[in-house]
Amino acid sequence: MSLSVLLLLLLVSSVQAAFYGLVVNYYPNSNGFSRGTLYYKLSNSFCIYNLPYSIGGESLVLNKVNEESNGGPCQTEGILTRIFSSNSIFPIPVSGLSWISGIKNGIVSFTAQAVVDLRFRSDTGSANTSPQTTIIPAVRVPSNCARNFNLLMFDPDGDVVKCRNGNMSLSECAPCTPPSVLSLSPSSCTLSFSPTNSSNEGPYAVQLMMEDFPRETITLTETGGTQTTLTTNDAIGKIPVQFVLIVDPAVPSCTEGLFLPMFLPPTPAHGAQFFTNVNETLQITISAQALNSTISELLFSGPYTVNKTQTGPGQFTLTWTPSATEAGQSHPVCFVVQAIFGANKYQSELRCVIVRAGNASNTTSPTLLPAISTTTPPINTPVYVAGLKMTLTSLGNLFQSDQDALLNQVKQVLDSYGLPEGITLRIRSIQPQVAVTAAPANATT
Ligand SMILES: *[C@@H]1O[C@H](CO)[C@@H](O)[C@H](O)[C@H]1NC(C)=O
Ligand SMILES: *[C@@H]1O[C@H](CO)[C@@H](O)[C@H](O)[C@H]1NC(C)=O
Ligand SMILES: *[C@@H]1O[C@H](CO)[C@@H](O)[C@H](O)[C@H]1NC(C)=O
Ligand SMILES: *[C@@H]1O[C@H](CO)[C@@H](O)[C@H](O)[C@H]1NC(C)=O
Ligand SMILES: *[C@@H]1O[C@H](CO)[C@@H](O)[C@H](O)[C@H]1NC(C)=O
Ligand SMILES: *[C@@H]1O[C@H](CO)[C@@H](O)[C@H](O)[C@H]1NC(C)=O
Ligand SMILES: *[C@@H]1O[C@H](CO)[C@@H](O)[C@H](O)[C@H]1NC(C)=O
Repeated sequence: MSLSVLLLLLLVSSVQAAFYGLVVNYYPNSNGFSRGTLYYKLSNSFCIYNLPYSIGGESLVLNKVNEESNGGPCQTEGILTRIFSSNSIFPIPVSGLSWISGIKNGIVSFTAQAVVDLRFRSDTGSANTSPQTTIIPAVRVPSNCARNFNLLMFDPDGDVVKCRNGNMSLSECAPCTPPSVLSLSPSSCTLSFSPTNSSNEGPYAVQLMMEDFPRETITLTETGGTQTTLTTNDAIGKIPVQFVLIVDPAVPSCTEGLFLPMFLPPTPAHGAQFFTNVNETLQITISAQALNSTISELLFSGPYTVNKTQTGPGQFTLTWTPSATEAGQSHPVCFVVQAIFGANKYQSELRCVIVRAGNASNTTSPTLLPAISTTTPPINTPVYVAGLKMTLTSLGNLFQSDQDALLNQVKQVLDSYGLPEGITLRIRSIQPQVAVTAAPANATT
């Protein structure tokens, strides 16, 4: 018998760490409908690794994702792969942990819930994968600046994903009062902050739920044969997205690049997708500048196996080498660059990308994936090859060195849009026009 619906709450015990939020992502196991992997991103006021976090009696080992310097919050990741042996609902009691003190929207105790559905989907022929998202523990905005926080919303099954505020009668939070300073656009999962006055400065708890909806009416089948029909209005699963928004004192200028760091090329665009094979290292280069403050660090959230290095002022690299257990999975990585000026901390906008781990033993070559939108087709649809055709005119002959320089410039621009490492560019024809095509490194074009 397989599990149809699992309700889970997180049991957190002991220790006076203060809570900074939680995100849960879920992948079913590819060869069965009763096994899956849960990815928990837990944020606290300091790093805790081996405390008795337990879910349904199983303890969760926590690994550090990223810790802000000078006593800032720490995010850890716990990965739980388990066999679910019944189709009952598991409510798990919650105790112990409180949000950081002084939360302006009055949230004190931590409550969260996710619903994972392991039944066979008629449209995809497998169990559901949750929407994939993440967020850093604390995002900041000065009280006098407008800002949109675009949460990453990506669904590997190609479902429609929507966000909403948590609902107390569904035990998704308690209470669920949303921050008065944010307005939510459910279909894009954008949280908009408008300039406000100093009375609204301080920390807020954001408690969202992200849900995936089928694009057509589908049936879900349990191993026993029982079927349930879902329409496009019925969520298949839901995951919690909880974090802290800090409204800081007003900044002298809201213009990006002065006090608030501004991203520069080749930083990937929000929503860019990267592909790398198991055991192959993916590198994401992030560059930012701030003329009137000092860039202090890169804050990120993603798989705990992602490494961060600083290569220069405002220059950072994230590297990730997926392991075999991640083959076929897409994981979210979100980041901001933070700067300091006196006691003030200033953040760049939030950007998120998707990193997909391929199976190197597959003979098909890696493909470039389409940019994310709410209408993204299933990521495992076989072939996407992005091509670029451009025509350049030149007054004189182009020497080989000119051609190389030109190709290099085009490649840098493409890299800044998040195209994978190792793409190759070739000049297809020289006269009377120069056309350039882009293709995956080992594709034959
Ligand atoms: C919260 O959930 C309950 C129970 O499903 C529902 O009746 C109510 O409308 C929901 N509240 C909101 C604000 O959506
Ligand atoms: C600040 O804005 C709030 C509305 O968000 C308003 O109620 C309050 O009076 C304002 N305070 C000051 C000092 O202007
Ligand atoms: C990845 O590396 C591990 C350990 O070196 C090895 O066992 C495995 O076969 C490799 N997998 C692939 C797909 O190359
Ligand atoms: C930012 O710095 C520049 C020079 O470093 C200075 O001229 C300018 O006044 C500063 N801007 C603000 C708003 O302080
Ligand atoms: C990340 O850092 C760990 C520990 O320093 C190291 O073992 C691992 O090889 C690094 N991974 C990458 C992709 O650089
Ligand atoms: C990866 O490829 C190997 C060999 O073709 C296969 O046995 C394995 O199931 C594949 N894994 C995934 C996740 O596709
Ligand atoms: C490998 O190929 C198989 C069969 O074509 C496909 O089902 C699987 O998703 C591929 N794995 C990856 C990681 O792309």
